[in-house]
Amino acid sequence: MNKMKIGFIGYGSMGSMILNGFLDSNSISAKDIIVSNRTISKLDDLKEKYPEIEISLKNMDLAKKCNPIFLFVNTGEVKNVLDEIKEHLTKDTHIIHISAGLILKTIEKSFSFKITQIIPSLTSELKEGVSLVCHNGKVNLSEKKFVEILFSSISQVKVVREEDLDISTDLTSCSPAFMAFIFREFADIGAARSELTEKEAEEMVLQTLLGTVKLLTEKKMSFEEIISRVATKGGITEEGIKSLETDLPLVFDKLFQSTFNKREKIKRDLDHKYNV
Ligand SMILES: NC(=O)c1ccc[n+]([C@@H]2O[C@H](COP(=O)([O-])OP(=O)(O)OC[C@H]3O[C@@H](n4cnc5c(N)ncnc54)[C@H](OP(=O)(O)O)[C@@H]3O)[C@@H](O)[C@H]2O)c1
Repeated sequence: MNKMKIGFIGYGSMGSMILNGFLDSNSISAKDIIVSNRTISKLDDLKEKYPEIEISLKNMDLAKKCNPIFLFVNTGEVKNVLDEIKEHLTKDTHIIHISAGLILKTIEKSFSFKITQIIPSLTSELKEGVSLVCHNGKVNLSEKKFVEILFSSISQVKVVREEDLDISTDLTSCSPAFMAFIFREFADIGAARSELTEKEAEEMVLQTLLGTVKLLTEKKMSFEEIISRVATKGGITEEGIKSLETDLPLVFDKLFQSTFNKREKIKRDLDHKYNV
């Protein structure tokens, strides 16, 4: 029997980032993988860059020849794809998906495969950030290691308990958007209260943000240290910090509540879908 290949279904925003990250970092070899995507023409550039990659026109053909299989399709499509390919999978097939809200026990209602849920982050575009990992009880040690090593080539890997996944997702995967929004707002309100253009203010904030991240990571300063070094007692920054102390906990509490509510709704809808 031929050696099984590694399958990748779905080559959109996340799928292309992750797969190209694995290939660029030589974590996997192009000759060992098969890729499929609903719109097949989206794979032309990949095939041109890595001619050894096998492209499959049908998910089913990929499923016959692959284990593990990575599903990078939209959340609502995961069940359709699994239904489509399930007759070619065995109890040893390891399915890895990246859909937030699609928890392990929901998939387990309809399928008995080895399942890993990964929550990636856009920051993997630069091989930075955190990928969250949750395995179900059927995934063995070497399969866990295989996935974790792969994702460590594009990010830090953090294995989390399923009950911590939601908040961890907000902190890692959703947060590039939250941070971009917060800092743009900070700059734009600053601009509105001055003669600065939004572009000038955003540039100031961006450079300061870069410097602050370097203080935290390269200089190993803590958040606390930075706050106390800048917000000296009785000074102007201290007043700004006091105002944040009053208002920010409420803002973040509301944010976590809103993502929780939305996620619960998605989970309920998916649970219903996988129950039938
Ligand atoms: N964006 C983020 O930061 C982020 C973070 C964590 C997790 N996620 C999760 O990642 C998943 C994918 O998100 P995305 O942003 O990459 O979406 P996307 O850009 O829409 O990509 C989805 C890809 O899957 C393909 N596809 C859909 N149905 C298919 C099928 N039946 N067979 C084969 N391919 C199929 C689509 O093909 P077409 O080319 O025909 O459209 C598309 O290329 C979602 O579940 C999302 O929750 C996203």
